[in-house]
Amino acid sequence: VNWTREERYTKLSDISEEAYHELQEKVNQSKWRQTFHIQPKTGLLNDPNGLVYYKGNYHIFHQWFPLGAVHGLKYWYHYTSKDLTHFKDEGIALSPDTEFDSHGVYSGSAFEYDGKLHLMYTGNARDDEWNRKSSQMVAVQQEDGTFKKFENPVIHDTPNGYTEHFRDPKVWHENDKYYAIFGIQRDNETGTAVVYESDNIKEWTLKSEIQTDLQNFGYMWECPDLFKLNGTDVFIFSPQGIEPENNQFENIYQSGYIMGDFNIDTLKFNHKNFVELDQGFDFYAPQTFLDENDNRILIGWMGLPEIDYATDEEGWAHCLTIPRVLTIENGKLMQRPIKALENLRTNKETAEGYANKHSVKLHPYEGKQFELMIDILENEATEIYFDVRVSKKCSTQLIYNTKTKQLTLERFESGIVSEAVDKTTRTTTLDQDLKQLRIYSDTSSLEIFVNDGERVLTTRIFPDENAVNFRTSTESGQVYLKFTKYDLQ
Ligand code: FRU
Repeated sequence: VNWTREERYTKLSDISEEAYHELQEKVNQSKWRQTFHIQPKTGLLNDPNGLVYYKGNYHIFHQWFPLGAVHGLKYWYHYTSKDLTHFKDEGIALSPDTEFDSHGVYSGSAFEYDGKLHLMYTGNARDDEWNRKSSQMVAVQQEDGTFKKFENPVIHDTPNGYTEHFRDPKVWHENDKYYAIFGIQRDNETGTAVVYESDNIKEWTLKSEIQTDLQNFGYMWECPDLFKLNGTDVFIFSPQGIEPENNQFENIYQSGYIMGDFNIDTLKFNHKNFVELDQGFDFYAPQTFLDENDNRILIGWMGLPEIDYATDEEGWAHCLTIPRVLTIENGKLMQRPIKALENLRTNKETAEGYANKHSVKLHPYEGKQFELMIDILENEATEIYFDVRVSKKCSTQLIYNTKTKQLTLERFESGIVSEAVDKTTRTTTLDQDLKQLRIYSDTSSLEIFVNDGERVLTTRIFPDENAVNFRTSTESGQVYLKFTKYDLQ
């Protein structure tokens, strides 16, 4: 479907209730609707926004275009949660209803100020010639739970030396000051990030660019996030325009991190290489926040721009990832699913046994929504094949090569393959032998945690209705495995 500009910039309030209801009916009939992931009730979801734990509640917002599976006029949609696994629908939080955000309430973050929940975001506006104007805006939560925008942007102008690609503030509080980091594009069309500071969240002054070794690293950095984790500074961002290299950076846009030592006064960041956060096909624009126990939690958008997905024609696209806990252990960034996901477990099944070159189905595991833990207790196989969500016609395969320690996710037979995606495989080389896989399967997605948080591979899949089986086999040699599986509800 080709949407005209006019259609993409139609407001939700400009279509009739019947028309919206019809769209909703269409979406509800989709066989790919997720069960334990946040997904748009209609239309397109992209970045997670405003993630925060505030006065006993988690708040999760997301970028939303209500009217179809395209990047049109963006709103902020709002959920609250007590445990990050069950969500309460709070409806629209921010609409594009001022001159500063007339063409989209773009991404941003949440923070507490003066005892109230505040949101800072980028207002996207276009003039008659379709020139972009970015304004940085603040909204504050009212007694009744709604959000009221400040009358004027808190940052009206883009600093000199940069284009209007200036967005996605992440706010934090430190040394009695508020700081905000933004993704921005230099006039020479390279990406970077700038830091502003404020005493009162109304007046912001530019400090400068963050000083990294990545001077020529893509044409734009989106959705920056800067924080300390186990004594190390971590900077997460989503650069655009990075070329693939040795099985890395194969998606259209990247998201990853640098870590090391950051100085808030000089903005100098001494860091190691940029590392991708996820090795799968569908992951972008992640953001982090602290949970009630001060764990650093990350949620990403399980999707990417400029790709056609199987659900597009059903009037919806994308979802958020499950929340992951971040830690740094022995100098490595680890990502594990949050513990509260255990609340969704039912029907435990376990099995143990050998798999060899004949495909085995160790147990009558069947399902679409499950958590499957595979412990590899002995491995004499050259290559191990794990086939997930298998039917007669479909299978998503994980291939582990014992010698090279390469783990490959193969989507060739997964079902309807997303269009405009390079290759049907994603490969990552593990730091250690493969010991464990922990797979979260929802109706149309897989999130695969490897070796207790060493790697994550996230992907959407659109298999047929019967893709509920699981099989293991090897190229040659045998492997001894232990399976633990729970249905998730
Ligand atoms: C990232 C992004 C952000 C922007 C938002 C608009 O996916 O492009 O930079 O604020 O999406 O929806």
